[in-house]
Amino acid sequence: MTVSGLLACPTCDTQLGRVDDGYHCKTCRIDYPRLADLPWLFSEPGSALADWRNRWQYAISDLLSRAEAQRSAIVDAPIAETTERLTLTAEGLETQAEHLRSILAPLDVVQPVAKETYLALRSRLPTAMGLLSYSTNLHRDWCWGDEENRLALEQIRPFIDPDRDQTIVVLGAGGARLAYDLHAITTGKTLALDANPLYGLLAHRLWQGDEQKFVEFPLAPKTSADCAIEQVLRAPGPAREGLHYILGDVLRPPLMAGSFDVIVTPWLLDVLPTPAGTLLRLINHLLTDNGIWINHGSVAFANRNPLHNLTFTELLKTAQASGFEVDGTSERRMPYLASPHSRFARQELTTTICCHKSANVARPDRHQHLPEWIVHPKKPVPVTPEFRTQLTTTRINAHIMGLIDGARSIRQIAEVLQTQRLMPAKDA
Ligand SMILES: C[S@@+](CC[C@H](N)C(=O)[O-])C[C@H]1O[C@@H](n2cnc3c(N)ncnc32)[C@H](O)[C@@H]1O
Repeated sequence: MTVSGLLACPTCDTQLGRVDDGYHCKTCRIDYPRLADLPWLFSEPGSALADWRNRWQYAISDLLSRAEAQRSAIVDAPIAETTERLTLTAEGLETQAEHLRSILAPLDVVQPVAKETYLALRSRLPTAMGLLSYSTNLHRDWCWGDEENRLALEQIRPFIDPDRDQTIVVLGAGGARLAYDLHAITTGKTLALDANPLYGLLAHRLWQGDEQKFVEFPLAPKTSADCAIEQVLRAPGPAREGLHYILGDVLRPPLMAGSFDVIVTPWLLDVLPTPAGTLLRLINHLLTDNGIWINHGSVAFANRNPLHNLTFTELLKTAQASGFEVDGTSERRMPYLASPHSRFARQELTTTICCHKSANVARPDRHQHLPEWIVHPKKPVPVTPEFRTQLTTTRINAHIMGLIDGARSIRQIAEVLQTQRLMPAKDA
């Protein structure tokens, strides 16, 4: 069952054509590769590849340097249990580096990119996202999270018609257990879209019935043996045909407008940097007439702009203003990432919202993760309030560092700052 007809160029929205080793946009003349078997549909595919390679290499070297720190601490361990914990954690970190090397090996195979570092800097990927952000979700999805996975499906299921042949897309799918579970209870195609290749490559492997080892590092291990556990991730069984993982940016979705019957956003809205209304207008654009949007998860916005930190009721009104009519909502207190190996877990009053598209609204402008002056190095760098603050702070810091001469005390440094009229006495 092909997925090509549903894929669009993330830069211009033209339907993508299938070519030997990937996809092609005839309008932009851009080739989009496949990573292992997964469409790699970022608007600047080469730069995104270089960027994820850098994040991959960074994650591996970070794991290895953390392992080294554990090993160096062993000489000072006062008791045998501490030695055991440090050794186990170091081994776990080293093993995880090996797993990352092997799972993400396809990143090294596709289209070599020149000047990687330079290109990575130009990237328009979500800037705050690390390779291992949200990685506990993988263990929840495919190892110990049966109850959480079942509860999530239970909340969403009432809004899905299992007998209709429909096309579903799960945005920000992560480890994609929900996409797999939804696909199992429906009859059409299901697409999972996420920007993180670790999740895509792993989910794709598990959906085929393969297993993958992946180390869990619980936040608050119950015992020393729980510090680093090599878990086996596996799906309950191979997925039926028609389940696809697409790698791309939710905010520049490589999807055909008006093509999806159901769009699901699980635990996504409040982690995006954009206002919820912007994503809702994009979703409106992707849905078929009368198509439905289902949102599930937390409503815990923490945007730098307070305007966008919506409450549940504001979110419902925003949906109405974005061309949706609310069909139903539910709330349920649920565990979240409650690992059996950890003393820490969240309980969340989770919300589920189901809306249908009742009007077409204008598509929002294409999202940019980085400002134009970073992407285009010949453009002037604007003097933002953040830069002004940083300038003053940097000058003060540099001056103070210059006063550290091995002889002055903190009090004497403060006196110099005061004498030079750089700070009032109280601040100094
Ligand atoms: C909180 S996690 C939720 C994952 C999954 N939906 C679940 O419930 O386990 C948010 C997910 O959104 C993805 N994500 C965040 N920003 C994205 C973007 N701009 N494009 C694509 N995926 C994005 C992250 O990679 C991550 O997998």
